[in-house]
Amino acid sequence: MLESKERITGHLDTDAVHCGEKTWLGSVTTPIAFSSTFVFKDMNEVLAYGQSQAAHYEYGRYGNPTREAAEEKLAALEGAERCVLFDSGMSAVTATILSLCEQNKHLVITDDAYKQTLSFVTKVVPRFGISSTVVPMGNYAALEDAIRDNTVMIISESPTNPYLNIADVAEVARIARKHGVLSVIDATFATPYNQRPLEQGADLVIHSATKYLAGHNDVLGGAVLGTTEVTEPIYQWRRVTGGIVDPMSCYLLIRGLKTFGLRMERLNRTAQCVAEFLSNHPKVRRVYYPGLSSHPHHDVARKQMRGFGAVVTFEIDGGLEDALQFMDRLKLCLLAPSLGGPETLITHPATMSYYKETRERRYELGIIDELIRLSVGLEDPKDIIADLERGLGAVTG
Ligand SMILES: Cc1ncc(COP(=O)(O)O)c(C=O)c1O
Repeated sequence: MLESKERITGHLDTDAVHCGEKTWLGSVTTPIAFSSTFVFKDMNEVLAYGQSQAAHYEYGRYGNPTREAAEEKLAALEGAERCVLFDSGMSAVTATILSLCEQNKHLVITDDAYKQTLSFVTKVVPRFGISSTVVPMGNYAALEDAIRDNTVMIISESPTNPYLNIADVAEVARIARKHGVLSVIDATFATPYNQRPLEQGADLVIHSATKYLAGHNDVLGGAVLGTTEVTEPIYQWRRVTGGIVDPMSCYLLIRGLKTFGLRMERLNRTAQCVAEFLSNHPKVRRVYYPGLSSHPHHDVARKQMRGFGAVVTFEIDGGLEDALQFMDRLKLCLLAPSLGGPETLITHPATMSYYKETRERRYELGIIDELIRLSVGLEDPKDIIADLERGLGAVTG
C-alpha cells in the first residue's frame, strides 16, 4: 500500500479521498486520536525525538495524527508543501499576521476584507507597534503605492464578502514579489476547487475551514498553507500559543473533504442557476455573482477560477421593510450567518452582521438595507428557487 504522501495524484477527487489518511490496525478511515499526550517506549525513542519531530507526537499542542492527516489532505488539495491547521479561520488569520510581523513593521490590506480581519488589523495589531494601510479592492496602483520599506505582507481576499469582488491574484503576487513582501490570499469563498492562489504566485493561502472545506456546518477550523519555509513561523507560533483544532473536528474535516469535489461541483452549478434566476426577476434590482457577465470582475474570475463558488449576493427592489418581509416569508433558506454547508443559508447583512453600526456607517461600507447574501446549499435547485420566489412575493417595491 502507498504511504499517504505517495498517494498524491494531482487529481482533486482522488486526493480528497486518499491523501493524508493514517490507517491503524487495518482501518480504512483515519482514527480519531483523542490522546492529549503520547508515550515514549524508552529513552532511545526520547533521544530520537529530539532529532526528528516527525517520528513521534509527544504532546497534543505539538502534534496529533488525526490533525496531521487533515493537514496532509488539505496540503495536497491546495498544492502546498505544508498546511497549518487552527481552531478557527480567525486563529489562522491572526497567527499569520502576528507570527510574520513584528514591532515597527507594516502591512497592507484591501478594504473589503472580512470585517473581523479588518477589525483585527486596524484595532488590535497597532497595539503591537505594527501599522497598516487599507487600500481599495481592485486598485493595484494604490496597493503598490502603499508598500513601504518596512512592509511585510499584502493581505487580500478573493472572492470577498458580500460583494464577491475578485482580486487578480497573479497581479497581487507580482506586486508583492517586486517589493520583496509576502502575498497572503484568504480564499475561503473560492476553496482550492475553484481557485489555487499558490499556483498563481501567492505565498500563503488562508481558509476558514469552517465553510466549504469541512462543508457541513458542524466544525470550526482554519488553515494556512504555503511552503515549509514560509509557514515555519506560523507553525512555531501555534506550538507556543495554541489555537489547536481538536481531533474530533479534524476527523469531521477529513470526512467532509472526501466529498469536497462532488459538493463544489454541485454548489457551483446551483449557484449559477440561482444567480441567473435572480438576475431575471423583476423584484431584484441587482445580482452580484462572479459567474455573471454583469459582475465587474467577471473577466478576472474567468481567468483564475474554475468555478465561481456558491455565494450569491443581491439587492431586492425595495427598502428595509421589504427586505425584512422577504426574509420572513422564506421556508427553506435558513436565516443564519456563515456559508459553505449543505443547508442554504441566507443573511440580511444590515441587521444580521452590521447591526452595531449606524446606518450612515453601514452605507459607507456598502451594506445597504436591501442587500441579501445567500449561501447556496445542496438542496434541489428547484426548491431553492421556489423558496426565493416565495420570499420575493412579499416585496412590494
Ligand atoms: C473570508 C473569511 N475569512 C475568515 C473568516 C473567519 O473564519 P472563522 O469563522 O472560521 O473563524 C471568515 C468567517 O466568516 C471569512 O468569511
